[in-house]
Amino acid sequence: MATSSAQLVETSKRLAAYQAVKDYLLPTYTRIGIGSGSTVVYVVEAIAALGPVVTASMTFYPTGAQSEELIEAAGLNLQYINKLAPGDQLDVAFDGADEVDDDLNLIKGGGACLWQEKIVATAAKQFVCVADFRKLSSQLGTSWTKGIPIEVLPMAAPRILGELKHLGSINPKIREGLPGKAGAIVTDNGMWIIDAPFPPLASGKDCNVDEGGSWTVDALADRLIKIPGVAEIGLFYGKNGLQVQSGAQKPVAAYF
Ligand code: 5RP
Repeated sequence: MATSSAQLVETSKRLAAYQAVKDYLLPTYTRIGIGSGSTVVYVVEAIAALGPVVTASMTFYPTGAQSEELIEAAGLNLQYINKLAPGDQLDVAFDGADEVDDDLNLIKGGGACLWQEKIVATAAKQFVCVADFRKLSSQLGTSWTKGIPIEVLPMAAPRILGELKHLGSINPKIREGLPGKAGAIVTDNGMWIIDAPFPPLASGKDCNVDEGGSWTVDALADRLIKIPGVAEIGLFYGKNGLQVQSGAQKPVAAYF
């Protein structure tokens, strides 16, 4: 029987997740971040498969309601990131991505969990991105064309939409609920998501957008996070003083 493309994708997610856990979850680790999305389901499956002799000494920190349920359903120890003492770090965090460029910059937030995902990622010494083969592209914005997810304060949404258009976003939109559920989706933090498509983003720092060129990942991220009412952006990248000081925002490895 022929393998369907959906089966190939699932196999790719599963293989990537088991390999990432094998390579990056050391038995001595005690604090582990767990991201959100369909790929992370396999990460938790792979961790649970190690058995209680290995996992009993480990505590798992979720990035929202979905990963909280996953951790509990797998019988793993659950703890929240606000219980981490100031200065303490997670040993490693595993998470998925919507798109990954050659420099391991990421677009995240397709599942609307990006704010807590960034908090957990930056609390970790190592951040491991687990993604299937569809997610890799040479420039962010090439394969994930729905736009950069941006978590916003609802009352600021109209002004932020205007500012995003001014910065060159093509038709940014407030993310709506599932079919049959009218209105904006509300995140675990009571915020809304705006999806802001931009032309493909160059990697690196040299940005010539003022001369009609394209944004770089770093320059656009620096600009977006400064818009009043923006809580967090779904660009995960190597340079952002605020986050990088305390941990790793950029993945140390990506698996496809
Ligand atoms: C959720 C995320 C997810 O990690 C991202 O959307 C990838 O999800 P999936 O593994 O289902 O493709 O950022 O906010």
